[in-house]
Parts: sequence; structure tokens; C-alpha cells
Amino acid sequence: MLVSPKILFDDCYGEYAIAAVNVFTMEQVHGLFNAAQSADSPIIVQITPVARNYAHPLMLNAMIEAASSIYPDVVYSVHLDHGTEEHAFSAITQGYSSVMIDASHDDFETNIKRTKAVTDTAHQKNIFVEAELGILSGVEDDLSVDDSHARYTDPTQAREFVERSACDSLAVAVGTSHGAYKFSGGKGLQFPVLERIQEQLPGYPLVLHGSSSVNPADIAAINNNGGKLKENASGVTDGELQKAIRYGICKVNIATDLRLLWTRVHREFFVQQPDLFDPIIPGKKYMEVYKEFMIERFEILGSSGKASYIKSNTQHL
Ligand code: 13P
Repeated sequence: MLVSPKILFDDCYGEYAIAAVNVFTMEQVHGLFNAAQSADSPIIVQITPVARNYAHPLMLNAMIEAASSIYPDVVYSVHLDHGTEEHAFSAITQGYSSVMIDASHDDFETNIKRTKAVTDTAHQKNIFVEAELGILSGVEDDLSVDDSHARYTDPTQAREFVERSACDSLAVAVGTSHGAYKFSGGKGLQFPVLERIQEQLPGYPLVLHGSSSVNPADIAAINNNGGKLKENASGVTDGELQKAIRYGICKVNIATDLRLLWTRVHREFFVQQPDLFDPIIPGKKYMEVYKEFMIERFEILGSSGKASYIKSNTQHL
């Protein structure tokens, strides 16, 4: 069942969080929906502009629609991740339930103006809008920001930003970064900043980008099979994610973990079975481990078992 993130966030605020997972391929769509159905967990399926360029928006929509028929119990939203106005306006006409306008690199006034242009159009069609205040470092798709340009969200600006831009959820920069090399200064998640943002926006859904856990066992397995990832790869701990939920984080963005898993499975396959050349073999394995990994994430985020409740409640509205 396709729902607005508003329904998901109204249910989870302060108690649990929804995994928002980036998808690029058929195997990932299968893995995500299969896990969500098994764990009875709501999900947000996220699509970046790079994914849209790679697979084509129509292909991604068709895969997600097919997955919702194959896994009919899944409660999900479809979200545009890190879009411009142009991406947002086209996603709004393509059946997305939610769009992110990322004008976080602009100054405060321009960010408000650009976000407001998207909320004005999206809200006419009941589409939910995520915006971002503050700048995350790291690499995601074609976005790359070095540490010196990263900037925490200023809690004193948060309420004014939300009121004037009319965005429905806010991505905050509180120490996480995109990619496999988080917390390079060893600082971890900045809870005092997050707490002050929540004080400014009580009950309002906040979004944590850069939430991958970056499993050291995956890094080691990749490097043992010919990879060259750096030793300092690290991610957000389960405890940090669980604590962040209490401070209003409702949406937890995950992309890197599933890329690492893909790399591990395929490197192991090519190195350990050099005589084989069939995409179905590592593809199947990837879907299996993807499913297992996401079921474990749903447990950590507390979203397991919540989808059927949301479904029954929504149908009675
Ligand atoms: P990770 O790189 O930590 O997976 O974060 C992904 C993300 O924030 C997508 O918007």
C-alpha cells in the first residue's frame, strides 16, 4: 500500500524510525520489499536523480509497482532523494508520494525560496516535501562535499526555516556524512545540536541522512577479495540511531550499506568462483543477504511489526 510519509511519521514519532533506502536495481527493489513484507515493516523507497538517469524513471516506477504486487502487504512511500526543482516537479507528476528539494548548499534565504517554490506546487497535489538545513560532508552519487564545507544545522534557524518554507520534514546535519567514511574527526553524532533542533520543532519529523552502519566485516571481506577500501571506514552505531529516534528522527537514510553488501557479494563470487560467469548467481545471493540485512535494520529501528497496524488504521480513516 502506497502511503504518504506523513502517515508513517505520525505513527513513529519518538518511538521508532522508518528506513529510507536508496534503490538503483531490480535486486535491490526485490530485497527491500521482501524484507519489509517478512518483517511487517513500513519502508520509504528512495530514488536519487542519478538512479533516475541510470535506470530511467519509468523503469524504477514499474519495478516498484511490480514489487508492491509481488509483496502485497508492504506499506511504503516513494521518495525523491536530493532533487532540484526540476527533479521534484517531474517526480510530482510521476506518482511519488514525497520529494526532497536539496537547496542546502545555498544561503538561508535562497534555500527558503527554492524550498517554498516546491512546497507550493507539491502541496496542491498532497505531496510531502523534505528540505535540508545545514550541510553534510561525504560522497553520494554525484554529490561530494569535503569536511571543510560541512556545516551543522543551526538550531536557531530551524523553526523559521520550516515556517517560511512550509516543508513537511527537515533533514538535519548533526555530524553524519554520506558514504563509507563517517566521523573522520571521531566526533560521532552531535546530540546537543539535535536536542536543540527538537526543542525548536517539537513533534516535527526530522530526517537523518548518512545513516549507514558500515559493517567492518563487510569492509574486511571486500578487502580480502581484492578491494581497496580504506581502513578508517566507519558508520553510525545502532545505539546512536536508537537515541536519535528519541530526539525526533523519523526517517533514517541508508544507501552505502547496500552498496557495500553488493560489493562484498560480487567480489567474493568473482574471486571464489573464477570459473563462473552467471549474473544470476551473485544476484540471488545479493537479494538474500540484502533481505537479511534489512530485517536486522528494521529491528534496530523498531519498525518491525508496525506495517499491519498502520494499514488497518489507514483503511479506517
Ligand atoms: P549513507 O551514505 O550513510 O548510506 O546515507 C545515504 C543517504 O543519506 C541518502 O540520502
